[in-house]
This record gives sequence, structure tokens and C-alpha cells, in this order.
Amino acid sequence: MELTGKRIALGITGGIAAYKSAELVRLLIKQGASVQVAMTEAATHFVTPTTFQALSGKRVYADTWDSTIDNSMAHINFSREADVLIVAPASANFLAKIANGIADNLLTTLTLARNCPLLVAPAMNLQMWANPATQRNLSTLRADGVSVLGPASGEQACGEIGAGRMLEAEEILADVISFFQPKLLAGKKLLLTAGPTFEAIDPVRGITNLSSGKMGFALARAAQEAGADVTLICGPVCQPTPRFVTRIDVVSALEMHAAVMQHIKAQDVFIGVAAVADYRPKHLAEHKLKKNDGANVPSIEGLQFVLNPDILAEVAALPAPPLCVGFAAESHNLAEYAQKKRAAKKIPLIVGNLIQDGFGGDNNRLILFDALGQHPLTPAPKLELSRQLIAHIAHLLETC
Ligand code: C5P
Repeated sequence: MELTGKRIALGITGGIAAYKSAELVRLLIKQGASVQVAMTEAATHFVTPTTFQALSGKRVYADTWDSTIDNSMAHINFSREADVLIVAPASANFLAKIANGIADNLLTTLTLARNCPLLVAPAMNLQMWANPATQRNLSTLRADGVSVLGPASGEQACGEIGAGRMLEAEEILADVISFFQPKLLAGKKLLLTAGPTFEAIDPVRGITNLSSGKMGFALARAAQEAGADVTLICGPVCQPTPRFVTRIDVVSALEMHAAVMQHIKAQDVFIGVAAVADYRPKHLAEHKLKKNDGANVPSIEGLQFVLNPDILAEVAALPAPPLCVGFAAESHNLAEYAQKKRAAKKIPLIVGNLIQDGFGGDNNRLILFDALGQHPLTPAPKLELSRQLIAHIAHLLETC
């Protein structure tokens, strides 16, 4: 429940994307928010107030002159009781009006009268989106502090392909959740590694580990939500890329090393979350090894290994290193091994977790080890722990 206790005012303007807003209401409520909907008259031609009344569990405001509204002050009360006003879809017409302070219907009036932040999710035909007038209005709105979510590019209801599609409900939800996070890393650049590496033996086989990448991806999302410019270098994983995170896929430890070294310049923070293979097979067989009908069964002793570069230690040893954070996944003696690793790699912070607590799952139990000692975090979902870790890193950045 990411939006527990949040009061969201949702405005809906006239556009075919209004059908997506029904799903948005459902998602917002599922995350614990209360949602109060207001619609323009045009919006009611695409979806009915009854739909939103049923989904939000509250009456829907659609008429400026509705005499049944207490004290007839819907336009004033609406945003007084909200933490944020989201208008999705926001038509070109609506954006033009609010960029110019026009209040000629209930939704534009309550938008002008609001005393809470405004997020808009534009939805329109690509020509309308590209029109200089629309772009001018958006510049004005951004300068006024309005957050513009999207739009996306793709196939439009009119059959044309281009920019102007409203974001999907899940994307708007992610942006709303992100909006409420404190911007502790605003203006900072953060690079991290995640997932396992795969060290090839032949063209189809190799050595890897059970790292799911979930912790690293949650951390990338939390850092981005905190305002950082995030680059995520990951081994082979099946995780969706967090919004606005630059993802670079690699396979082996050597590739991960090369990608990190290529992107490390000007980073403020480097976090090694990846479970990098310590060794790789010395020789890569050019062709697939044959089964040979069970004769000559290969032995692990027959396979020669060489040490992979320690990416984190190498970054920490750069002349002007970013703030370096490591992970220590252990099966026992966590505190002892984690502190040893912190000292060996000469890094200010290492995050310890027991493999049995965290590998593959959605929850984890973390202990932070820094120069001041141990800081155990309450076991929680990985995203929640990531936000706490980001707060700790932001504090270290300030004090280092
Ligand atoms: O040395 P060890 O693998 O136990 O240390 C774990 C930490 O070091 C993790 O943060 C991991 O991402 C990082 N690491 C690395 N390159 C390696 C091995 C580990 O960056 N080759």
C-alpha cells in the first residue's frame, strides 16, 4: 500500500483515453488512496459519472451549477481536501485554459482555485500535441510548477502513430507514488549493478547464481523516485525496468566491469548490488560440448577458472571515487564477514543480508554497516528497504 492516507482529486477531461482513468481510480484505491473525481461535460460523453462513482465510492462532480452541493463551493472545497490534483486525461483544450488561468467550467475552476500540487497526463492527437500553441502552454505550465506525466508515443485512437497517447494507468500510478517521495537525491547521479552474471563454458552453458535482481531494481526505483539520475547495469534478469532509469544489459562479469568503467565518470554514488561471479572459466569452448553417450563425463576439476575483476573495489580505488556502497550476501556470520568486506574494499557502507532472507523473494532483512557501526532495518518489502537505504546514503553524502 504505497498511497495509504493520501487524498487524491482526479479530474477527467474529454478524450477517448478517459476509459483508462477508470483503471487508474481502481489502482489508486488499491494502494490505499481515497479518490474524489470531477469530470468535464465532454468527459461524460466518453465515460459516465456512474462508473467513477462506483469505483471511487464517492459522488462525482460534473456540474458547476449543481445546487445539491453543500454551500455550492465545490470548486473551493475540492482541492482543500486533497494532497494532489491529477488531471488524466488532460486535453489540449484543458491545458490551454489552465495555462491562461481560465475558469469556465467546474474542473477548470477548481484547478484554478486549488491549493495543492497539480499533475497532468496529456492525451491528444499527435498534431494537437506538436502544435506550437500546445507546446507553449506546456512550457507555461511547467514554469508554473505543474508536473507533466508523459505523454507516450504509439498508435492513437485516430489510427495515426506518434506522441500524444495518455500514459497507461500503471505508469501514472508509478509517477504519482514517485511524486510523494522526498527528493533526497535531487541532482545526483547514481550508478548501480544488479542481478547475477553468467560466465560461459560453451555457447549454451555457463556458471551463474540465483540472484533475481529484485533488490537492485527496487533500489534503482527508489533512487530515481528520490530524484537521482539513475543508470542500472544488470546481468541476465527478468525484471521490468523502473520508470526513467537507464538500463544497460550485460551477461558476464567482464562485460559488467567494462560497462561500469565506461559510465562511472561524474557519478555521485556507486552501489554494487550484483552477485558478480568471482571466477570465470579460463577457456570458452567454441562449440557446444558433446554428451559423448556418457563417456568422458566432464569434471569440475577439469575446468580451469580465472579471477574476475572486483568491480566495487576497483571503483572505490579510483582517484576521486563516488560514494561506494556494497552488498554482502552471506549464509552465516553476517556481521563479521560484512565488516571485513567493508574494510577490504575500503568503502564507507556495506549492506548485509542473509541469503535465506533475501534471495529471490520480495522481502528482505537488511543491516547497514558503516563507520558508526551496525544499523538493522526492520524486515520489509525490498522497495521499502530501498527507500530507507537511499535516505541513509543521502545522509552520508551530506556528511562525508
Ligand atoms: O567480494 P564479495 O563478492 O563478497 O563482495 C560483494 C560486493 O562486491 C557486492 O557489492 C558486489 O556487487 C561487489 N562485487 C563486485 N565485483 C566482483 C565481486 C563482488 O563489484 N567481482
